[in-house]
Amino acid sequence: MNLARRTMNAPALAAVYERAWRPALFYLASGRSMDTDRRDAVRTLRLSGPKRVLDLACGPGNFTGHLSRELTGDGRVVGLDYSEPMLAQAIRDNAAPRAGYVRGDARTLPFADGTFDAVCCFGALYLIPDPIRATREMIRVLAPGGRIAISTSHRTPGWFGALSTAVGAAGGLRVFDTETFPALFAEHGLTDIDQQLHRLLQYVSATRPA
Ligand SMILES: C[S@@+](CC[C@H](N)C(=O)[O-])C[C@H]1O[C@@H](n2cnc3c(N)ncnc32)[C@H](O)[C@@H]1O
Repeated sequence: MNLARRTMNAPALAAVYERAWRPALFYLASGRSMDTDRRDAVRTLRLSGPKRVLDLACGPGNFTGHLSRELTGDGRVVGLDYSEPMLAQAIRDNAAPRAGYVRGDARTLPFADGTFDAVCCFGALYLIPDPIRATREMIRVLAPGGRIAISTSHRTPGWFGALSTAVGAAGGLRVFDTETFPALFAEHGLTDIDQQLHRLLQYVSATRPA
């Protein structure tokens, strides 16, 4: 297990992730606050009403609980993660009437095709050993008409991009180019593909046609 994966399995990180680790590191990497990221997630996933939502690699539920409060009726958000300490923290900090947590592997999701109206994966594809397979799984479980959104690393041009790729690789983090995810979404027939670049991070969203 590499450094990044060991870190995600540490109870000490789970305890500080939502309050300190994520706000600080993601602000440095993208210039964006957690509140901005949450608002964008609600908007791009078009959350409202009784939707079924998957928050893949949910960590301590820092999006799961928030997204679930946008739903009504039978709407539910499932947060899935493989780290037991992260899930235990999610239950402590982000339990909500329309949120539930499942332990699983992003590469082999335990859900039938088309289960969810919205699927997201924030700040995790660079940690997952086969991120393309995990993204294909996200698309598989997305229902026709549903929305998908990811945030992950982005290789900036020039020496800084080369340096951040090398430093990331040493710690077990992948750095993606700008073409990979839009091309993968297009290959699967997704439409409305939108990509935003924020410093070292990219945010890509799309629709699965009805
Ligand atoms: C940095 S946290 C992201 C948490 C949250 N989504 C956010 O944006 O703040 C990354 C999470 O990915 C999870 N993860 C990594 N590989 C995974 C896999 N193969 N299956 C499920 N979860 C995985 C880790 O356990 C960790 O909780």
